Amino acid sequence: MNQPSVIVTGGARGIGQAIAARFKRDGANVTIADIDPSNLEQTTLELEVRGVLTDVSSESDVKRLIETVLERHGTIDVLVNNAGLSDFVPLEQQTLAGFQKVLNVNLTGAWLCARAAAPHLREAKGVILNIASTRAIMSEPGSEAYAASKGGLLALTHALAASLQPDVRVNCVSPGWVETRAPGTFRHSSGDNAQHLVGRVGTPEDVASMVAFLASKQAGFTTGQNVVVDGGMTKKMIYLE
Ligand SMILES: NC(=O)c1ccc[n+]([C@@H]2O[C@H](COP(=O)([O-])OP(=O)(O)OC[C@H]3O[C@@H](n4cnc5c(N)ncnc54)[C@H](O)[C@@H]3O)[C@@H](O)[C@H]2O)c1
Repeated sequence: MNQPSVIVTGGARGIGQAIAARFKRDGANVTIADIDPSNLEQTTLELEVRGVLTDVSSESDVKRLIETVLERHGTIDVLVNNAGLSDFVPLEQQTLAGFQKVLNVNLTGAWLCARAAAPHLREAKGVILNIASTRAIMSEPGSEAYAASKGGLLALTHALAASLQPDVRVNCVSPGWVETRAPGTFRHSSGDNAQHLVGRVGTPEDVASMVAFLASKQAGFTTGQNVVVDGGMTKKMIYLE
């Protein structure tokens, strides 16, 4: 690819910001689409990338995002559906509006972006990466909306891979526990670290490097898959005494 054009939704902070930084470092034209205007401005200045204020659950916002990127860069090579929110509430206190909001952003937003970018991704022989979660395959109480949205993303991934074959590869990355707070502002307990087979909590860069690999030609035979990036947390058997 010659200066690929990459869109990262939810790229104004956290994991999305690290993904945007990684693609920028690798020489891409990066556009961040985020709903938070102040973080968006700060991150676009810091990373020297473009930004488009976007609510991924709004059809008109997504249309405008795709048009803006095409005007600026003429192509879309990589779409990273990373924007997401979580809302953990005991089941009996969950509301229909709350459930639908999480689904609208985490799942419908990814579908809206994929559908709008599809013809351009086909043309570019591009790639879609969806950022799901290990919560798609395991749960704590009160996480129905988030878990359902992330489980939906796993299914959306293989459906899109089928619809967009053979031109566009579509994969999912499922992070486990990833620390997005600034270094030095927190300390993980030895128990936190010990829950992971690699002995530590994840970093946004751990996720970004898997995304970069899956977007690369080196991953040219991989599509429709969910790749778990969790330091082995979901493979560790735990007996309490
Ligand atoms: N941090 C973790 O431990 C972890 C683990 C598994 C999965 N994930 C997933 O990774 C992704 C990023 O997580 P994070 O921890 O960096 O989250 P974060 O909350 O730090 O950042 C999410 C970003 O998405 C943006 N966003 C929220 N709603 C949006 C909308 N409607 N339209 C556009 N942008 C919107 C926010 O403004 C924010 O900049 C999410 O999809 C999350 O579910 C995170």
